[in-house]
Amino acid sequence: MTVCSDLNTLNGYLESSRAAGLTIGFVPTMGALHEGHLALVQKAAEENQTVVVSIFVNPSQFNNPNDLATYPRTLESDIELLSRIESVVVFTPEIQHVYPESDDFQPIELNGLDRVMEGTHRPGHFAGVVHVVNNLFQLIQPDRAYFGKKDYQQLAIIRYMVEKRNLPIEVVSCDTIRSDEGLALSSRNMRLTEEERKDALHIYQTLLRVKELAFHYTPEEVKARAIEFFNEANLDLEYLEIANAKSLQPLTAEWAQLSVCCIAAWCGDVRLIDNLELTN
Ligand code: PAJ
Repeated sequence: MTVCSDLNTLNGYLESSRAAGLTIGFVPTMGALHEGHLALVQKAAEENQTVVVSIFVNPSQFNNPNDLATYPRTLESDIELLSRIESVVVFTPEIQHVYPESDDFQPIELNGLDRVMEGTHRPGHFAGVVHVVNNLFQLIQPDRAYFGKKDYQQLAIIRYMVEKRNLPIEVVSCDTIRSDEGLALSSRNMRLTEEERKDALHIYQTLLRVKELAFHYTPEEVKARAIEFFNEANLDLEYLEIANAKSLQPLTAEWAQLSVCCIAAWCGDVRLIDNLELTN
């Protein structure tokens, strides 16, 4: 397995792959890898002969300095996990590779996708995500890029960016990987105590409750009941929204063909997000 932090090595590898007619799959990550990330890498390896996994904790998408400071960094074990998958190149760029002085990135209008949920609660977050993903796409120029539904809004925004910028990249989505009890895997879970891990299960239980209630009541009614159920647990709700899965705008009286319930909550001082699609 190749691990590189310099652009020359990366480019040499990418060029020889392209010259041999191999497709390049790309999985951007911030490291602290778990089975959720590995499912993306596995899928990328099934669909492409070369897979680039980037590990870069992107400062510009952290609106909370404490979150950035405490974000887990586990490069050695990340590399070990990735070494079990064939044809993987691990790219660990320096900040000046991702944001060079010549950076001519122009922010894009995101059609309201960034003005709801995470967008309102984490100001500047999506601007940072779009910027870093755009720059990584420029460096790697993959044929396909893999994103998890765990970050539902991020996935919608990247799809929109690729479409709007007409980038020749296929965005592939992967289902959320959960623990046996239902907790969505997240690098931030490492910071939960055993007690908090148990409390955190209530997030998925609330999503399952929403799934049961969906379509029997209006989205507004389901939201009210779900919030009541959620508040029985030892967690602080930041938001619970029921939205159109495509536009991400909140639903009130009518369900969409595909709807999604998204939750953000604090479990102690760890902020967790999760979501579930609801098919009518
Ligand atoms: P990170 O949180 O490391 O996630 C990298 C990718 O793994 C994202 O596409 C995310 O949705 C996916 N992922 C995380 N947990 C998952 C789970 N339980 N099941 C399935 N997929 C999961 O998302 C980012 O990094 C950053 O914002 C990034 C896109 C790398 C830009 O900096």
